[in-house]
Formats: sequence, C-alpha cells, structure tokens
Amino acid sequence: MADLEFINISKSFGGISALRQANLSCNKGQVHALLGENGAGKSTLLKVLSGAIQANSGEIRIAGKTVNIRNPHDAAAHGVGTVYQELSIIPNLTVSENIFIGRIPRNKFGSFDKKKLRENTKELFEEYGVTDINPDDIAGPLSLSKRQMIEILRVLSKKPAIIIFDEATSALTENKVNWLLKLARKLADQGRIVIFISHRMSEIKDGCDIITILRNGQTVGEMKVNEVEMDKAISLMLGRKIEGYYPEIVSHRAAEKAMEVKNLSHRHILYDIRFDLYRGEVLGIGGLAGQGQAELLLSLFGILKSRNDISLYGKPYRIHSPKKSIENGIALIPEDRGFQGLLLPFSIKFNITLSSLSRLGAGPLLSGIKEQTVVTEYMNALQIKALSKDMAVVNLSGGNQQKVVLAKMLATGPKILMMHDVTRGVDVGTKKDIFTLVRALAAGGNSIIYFSTDVEELVNVCDRVLVMFDGTVTASFSESERNEANIVSASIGVKSGIHK
Ligand SMILES: Nc1ncnc2c1ncn2[C@@H]1O[C@H](COP(=O)(O)OP(=O)(O)OP(=O)(O)O)[C@@H](O)[C@H]1O
Ligand SMILES: [Mg+2]
Repeated sequence: MADLEFINISKSFGGISALRQANLSCNKGQVHALLGENGAGKSTLLKVLSGAIQANSGEIRIAGKTVNIRNPHDAAAHGVGTVYQELSIIPNLTVSENIFIGRIPRNKFGSFDKKKLRENTKELFEEYGVTDINPDDIAGPLSLSKRQMIEILRVLSKKPAIIIFDEATSALTENKVNWLLKLARKLADQGRIVIFISHRMSEIKDGCDIITILRNGQTVGEMKVNEVEMDKAISLMLGRKIEGYYPEIVSHRAAEKAMEVKNLSHRHILYDIRFDLYRGEVLGIGGLAGQGQAELLLSLFGILKSRNDISLYGKPYRIHSPKKSIENGIALIPEDRGFQGLLLPFSIKFNITLSSLSRLGAGPLLSGIKEQTVVTEYMNALQIKALSKDMAVVNLSGGNQQKVVLAKMLATGPKILMMHDVTRGVDVGTKKDIFTLVRALAAGGNSIIYFSTDVEELVNVCDRVLVMFDGTVTASFSESERNEANIVSASIGVKSGIHK
C-alpha cells in the first residue's frame, strides 16, 4: 500500500476523455514525476486530488483510506497543496498579501496586522532561502519568475503534507529552477509527498526518484529514475521513438539584411543595442534571465517605447505599435501567454485569426474558407489537441494554449518572427516539431529572433547567437564559435573575444 493512491480515475469533459482509469501511487520521502504529452491528462489527474474538479469514477486513498474530495477545501483538510500551471497572482496586491491571501493576520481591533504579516513573510522567506523578493512590493510588475515564486511560497506557507508542482519550473529562471529542485528534495526528506510535473527531462533526471507516465489519459508505465534511460521514458510517453531531436542546421542566411538595429535604448534597461538580422537567419539571443532580452523584444515589437535607429530591408523604419508591426511583417510570441497572448474565454479559431484579420480579409468580407483553412492548417501542424476549433482556449491543456499563441502569430505571415521561450510548457515531441518549423521558416527566407533561456536549444536551433548582459549585447557567436561553453561564459560577463 502506497501513502497516496489514485485508483482507476476517469474523467471526461463533454466529448473528451481526459482520464481513462488512470493510476498513480506515491510515497512519502520521494519526489514523484508525472510525465506525459501536452493534453495527456496530468493536470486533470492532479486537479482531482486538489479538489478543483471531480472525477467521474475512481478512488483516491491517503494512507490506505479512501478520501472524498469534493472541493479545494476538502483537499486542504487532507493536507494537499497545489502550485498550478497557470499563475493566480493578484497584480495590485503586495507580495506578502498575495502569499497570505485569505489568511492575513488581524490585530485585536480586527484590522489587518501589517507588522505580523511582515514577520510571517520574513519567517517564510528565511525558511526557504528567498532573498531577492521584497515582501512589500506590488506583485503585478514583478518578473514572471518572481510571480511564480510567490505562487510557490503561498502553497508552502500552508505547510502541505502532499505538494503538487504542476510545471512550476517552466516560468522560473535557471537558478530558481535549482532552488525549486532542492526545495522539492527537502520537502520529500521532511516526509512529505511531492509530485512534480515538467517537460524538461533534465529536471526529472536530476530532481525526481520515480516516474509515472500518462498517455492519452491512461497510465502506461512506472519506473525508477536511476534505473531507466530517459529515451525509453520518452518513447513510452509518446508511443513512438523520437529520432533526430534537433534538426540539422543548414544555413539559409542571405546577404540581405532583414533588420539593422542601432543605438537602441530603453530607459535604464537597454542601452546602445546594435545588431544585424539577415534574411533566412535564425538569430539566437541568450544570456542570464533579466539582462534586457524580454525588453528588447517588446521594444522591437512596439509594446515598449525605445530610442532607436532601425532599417528594415535596407529602408529606414520607425517602430509604432504592435498592430503596425504585424502589418509590417514583424511578429512576437510573448513570454506570458495569459496576459499578452491569448483571450482565454474565446475559441481557438478566434484566437488564431485575431491578429491576422486584415490579412485574411477583415470585417463582413472575412473569407470564411480562408479562415477555416488557416486554422486547420496550424492546428494540424502544431498538433493542437482539441475537440474542435470552436473549443474555448481556457479548456485546453497548458501546452496546447502555448501552441495557440504560436499559431496566432504564424497566421499573421511574419517575415520577421521574434520568439520568447517558445518551447516553454511544450512536450518533447512538439518541441521537436517547433525546432523543425523554425528552421523551415528560415529556409523560406524569413528571419527569426529566437530568445531562449535554454543554452542547448540556442546552440542546436540557431545560426548565430548574441549574448546580452546588463542591458546590452556583449557577444556574438557565429557558426564555428556557437557552443555552450562560449555562450555560458559570455552570459556571466566573462569577456571572450567579442565578434560582430
Ligand atoms: N474544462 C475542460 N473542458 C474541456 N476539456 C478539458 C477541460 N480541462 C481539460 N480538458 C482537456 O483534457 C485533456 C487533458 O488536459 P490536461 O490539462 O490534464 O493535460 P496536461 O497533461 O496537463 O497537458 P500539458 O502538458 O499541456 O499541461 C486535454 O485534452 C484538455 O483539452
Ligand atoms: Mg497541464
């Protein structure tokens, strides 16, 4: 008997069987990974435990006893704490108010006890080694990584006996990923049950003990991390072997410059940025998180105002607004799909065509056939898993939502496509498809600015890699120098022959 058991859990939503008699057993003291493609049912299974949804059939047992979890309140009473895939930070509250929301201490007069709240936060931060977040800051403007940490700390503050991390690392910067992996280990060592979902195999290999694999809502395997080759786990998860994960890089870089950027600066965040982007080139942007990469993309797209001197295909160009950028063939796949990318309550079709209405023929003359074709084309190419194109995006799995953001921008037919961590939350099979797609776009004469926090991806997908440090471009590595060692040392500010 395991400490926590999911037995034959089934759940369907309308016509979709998200879970078909799925099983999962977890024990105290272990970090348990749940692996599966986008839409395999991972979040759904754990939502049954956290009381966010109710299963159609099946049973959950904690310490051998069947439990009846009807809502999040019941789950909390059984000591279940969940860090959900989608953030739920309230932007205008402070960090500590977000962490202790609903549990803010009151003084004897019944009003909020700010001093006690600060003490509680300080204690929590000390316990979990958090030093770089100010508890009194307003949460909304903080980086995605910090907002994700707030979410994690909120759950930890409730001292759960069972803790679920549903892709909690996908929005974290690299050193925070290490922080979370260590934390998961510490929680397990304290005798708690830890369940961990991630699409990054390295995290599973380094941070977990046992893997359970879900495919199409069914449990297809359970294995010990130290006894199995990751490739085997991946084949089991996809139901097929995956070969040639990274595409062969064949350069299609033309002599023509698609974009020439000079003297770009934004407040005190970006200064004197200059680089050329060629037609047919995949230009990687690397560096530690928070060195201005996100702001650079937002500036080039027209979301942030910047001073700059830019040419587009040899002609002087002024950045106006995102709408104008799209009209000029420049698109951005943003970091935060919830805030900047998608209208969640609306359909897949609506979201995909939203930014390309003018291209498809706007207004009442919108060509229905063209629209249908475009939507179907992208849903197939990116394997967006949904019942139909009319399904609301909010009901898609996290990774499939990410694919809709990608489809939406591809549908605008960009000549220059900027991508911010486009493979975040996407399963290995689809990651491979995205890499292939990026290379195919370049082969077709388009140019791509590919920002990734994953150095391995930069090396294996891009023609050339720029590294940013402290708000400016500090290094550029062409084909022969584009390796992990060079990129990493440039990222931490070690000067290694700057080549343009
Ligand atoms: N409320 C809902 N209404 C309709 N379908 C839903 C709903 N919630 C989930 N689904 C469907 O259930 C299936 C499983 O989704 P789930 O979110 O569990 O996948 P996942 O394994 O967590 O994927 P990801 O890796 O992308 O997060 C998907 O096909 C999804 O579209
Ligand atoms: Mg999920």
